[in-house]
Amino acid sequence: MKFFAEQRREVMMHIEKYMLEKMWDFLKPIEENWQPSDLLPDSTRDSFFTEIKELQESARGLSYDLVAVLIGDTITEEALPTYESWLTMVEGVDMSEDNGWMKWTRHWTAEENRHGDLLNKYLYLSGRVDMRAMEVSTQFLIADGFDIGTGTDPYRNFIYTSFQEMATNVSHRRVAALAKKDGDGLLAKMCGVIASDEARHAKAYKHFMTKIFEVDPNEAMVAFEDMMRQKIVMPAHFLREVGLKIGQTFGHFTDAAQRLGVYTALDYVDIMKTLIEEWHIESMPDLNEAGEKARDYIMRLPDRLVRVAERMKNPHLEYKFTWIAG
Ligand SMILES: [Fe+2]
Ligand SMILES: [Fe+2]
Repeated sequence: MKFFAEQRREVMMHIEKYMLEKMWDFLKPIEENWQPSDLLPDSTRDSFFTEIKELQESARGLSYDLVAVLIGDTITEEALPTYESWLTMVEGVDMSEDNGWMKWTRHWTAEENRHGDLLNKYLYLSGRVDMRAMEVSTQFLIADGFDIGTGTDPYRNFIYTSFQEMATNVSHRRVAALAKKDGDGLLAKMCGVIASDEARHAKAYKHFMTKIFEVDPNEAMVAFEDMMRQKIVMPAHFLREVGLKIGQTFGHFTDAAQRLGVYTALDYVDIMKTLIEEWHIESMPDLNEAGEKARDYIMRLPDRLVRVAERMKNPHLEYKFTWIAG
């Protein structure tokens, strides 16, 4: 049997080449892509102040929890430097600029950067947010980094991103629906376009992972099992407000998301089921003993987690975030 690291490197060489060929199936040409300013009031026009007034009037109808979730989502998006540096710390890939890994990482980051940019500008104009408090949380989160259990392994990395892009698609989509219900059509549109970016990115990562399963099913299965055993930790799990310790705000943010139904324990299970299905985990042929064992664990997990989720109570604790001005 080949030395583990050497085998990984060989698989990744194949995958990186494939990523380079396929990346434009999943990304949009930059000139054609939406930009934050397409959705925001234009400060060069006379109508600017009227448009801000209208924006603030509709933002007034958003519920407290929804504003809290939106701020948490925005901070998560704005911690993009953490995610980009994490992608470039992966081992066993070729980091040359003209290779698949770096090209993808840079272009993915460039698309993602629009999300925090758009939401931040909206929140700034909305009149609902203590921007300073929010900015402190953003700076903390970037400085604190994250610890999501992937190590520097490209397989675990792709499993994480596949999961996480699906999770952000769900949560932005739900925020869009709730914003619409609360009478904020503009915010609904913003979250809608972001959600569709996340769906494209999820498709890409899931597809790259499918390719890994094709050439290295056992190791890919073991990596999937390992990530599921650890649970997928949200990238903002270190979220905190001024005066609090690392991670102390995160639970309140996820409570608000669970309360609103923006992202729940059952969504977690649904994402897992989708991955199991799309990666054909159940029918994957010719696994060795370790691969079979890993598959058994994965296949049993969704039902177990549904039972846990059903026993969970909806969090009711009221919490006052420093971020929200009114
Ligand atoms: Fe995003
Ligand atoms: Fe994303």
